[in-house]
Amino acid sequence: MNKPRPRSKGARVLIIGGGGREHVIAWKLKQSRKVDRLICAPGNAGIAKIARCVDINPVKTRNLADLAVKNRIDLAVVGPEVALEAGIVDEFQKHRIKIFGPNKNAARLESSKVYAKEFMRKYHIPTAPFKKFSSSGAAIGFCKSVEYPVVIKVDGLAAGKGVFVVDSFDEASDTITKVMETKTFGDAGKNIIVESFLRGQEVSIMAFCDGKTIIPMLPSQDHKQAYEGDKGPNTGGMGAYCPTSFVTPEIMEQIEVYVLNPFLKGLEKEGLIFRGVIYAGLMLTSSGLKVLEFNCRFGDPETQVVLPLLRTDFFDILMATATGKLQSIGKLSWREQTSACVVMASKGYPGKYPTGLTIRGLDIKLGNGNYIFHAGTVKKGNNWVTAGGRVLNVVGLESDLKLSLDKAYRMVKNIKFDGAMYRKDIGFRSLQA
Ligand code: AMP
Ligand code: GLY
Repeated sequence: MNKPRPRSKGARVLIIGGGGREHVIAWKLKQSRKVDRLICAPGNAGIAKIARCVDINPVKTRNLADLAVKNRIDLAVVGPEVALEAGIVDEFQKHRIKIFGPNKNAARLESSKVYAKEFMRKYHIPTAPFKKFSSSGAAIGFCKSVEYPVVIKVDGLAAGKGVFVVDSFDEASDTITKVMETKTFGDAGKNIIVESFLRGQEVSIMAFCDGKTIIPMLPSQDHKQAYEGDKGPNTGGMGAYCPTSFVTPEIMEQIEVYVLNPFLKGLEKEGLIFRGVIYAGLMLTSSGLKVLEFNCRFGDPETQVVLPLLRTDFFDILMATATGKLQSIGKLSWREQTSACVVMASKGYPGKYPTGLTIRGLDIKLGNGNYIFHAGTVKKGNNWVTAGGRVLNVVGLESDLKLSLDKAYRMVKNIKFDGAMYRKDIGFRSLQA
């Protein structure tokens, strides 16, 4: 008879996802003395250096639960929103496996923009005025009498590509037709939102939340557009830095009072089970802060700049959140430094791009404020090769933003693959302010 294997002292953690965000999560967990084993599904070539990677798609919730049961996982951590929408948290809870992330119902705060906007309206969370439409005729009719630009948003998940800032009625009508009639986003575009265009600095706030307690992390700023000067198409994110001086202590207090506390109250009133990260994308406008969107997970690449600054044991925070004991964590402790991340992407991203290109220069010495978190990479024999749109996240940690950027760009210059694209102006808004 097989004897059960003796249980080691440390925890076994399963990370779901395979991008730069999941690499930094794995790296941070690896530093905790409480973590014994890390498994990541599907992971990537960088993560494979510190965790066992198992090739399961994040939406295959049953297969992932089987993997977790088989490996006696103590805690699962969800990276991507598609897994939350697929109901991974509900599936794991059925098997009594602890998991960090909101359940499917609560994750609608990200997976349905209509639901999120109605939640904000109901709980008086400041956001742009909006109207919801479920027919193209009504939406186009409404767009005849609005002031431009306006913003058109697809209701469902669209990998960051379902938001359009339009400058004229013709453009609005064209966009609405594509989304609602041609169905370029499938069912995600069944309903849409038309909302006022806001001007200001955009910042990201992520907070741990177990439904009773909410603890914010340091504020960061992401650069979503593909090209320098924040121009061009939206991407998953081309770089970020943390903290951002745009969020002063006064603004942080406003975020708590006007966004995070009402958010918590809304969860309670709606009976939503939320044990994970709430990420608020905010616009700091001349008439106060407004929420652009909620995400129900760690941001990417924001996490790559926030976690390197965290001093409090990351496993403790995740476990406390997943088990409804976040209050026991108290205030988070942070390094008094700045981190900056430059994303290296494949030529053509966020459109079509080639893969399978050899990456050179990854053998540089890391540590001491120099980090590389892999996104789309695989290992072929002894070579690292590209396997995605966003390929690498190059992170520098230093005493100020300028120095952390210098550090990141020094590494970037040594890393080569054909057609490598990166923005040379990460952090420009703060450096110019
Ligand atoms: P969202 O997915 O809703 O955060 O939108 C993606 C991006 O579109 C945001 O990060 C902003 O850069 C931009 N955006 C969204 N809503 C607005 C708005 N009301 N006014 C101006 N820009 C917006
Ligand atoms: N960086 C934006 C996001 O994670 O959605």
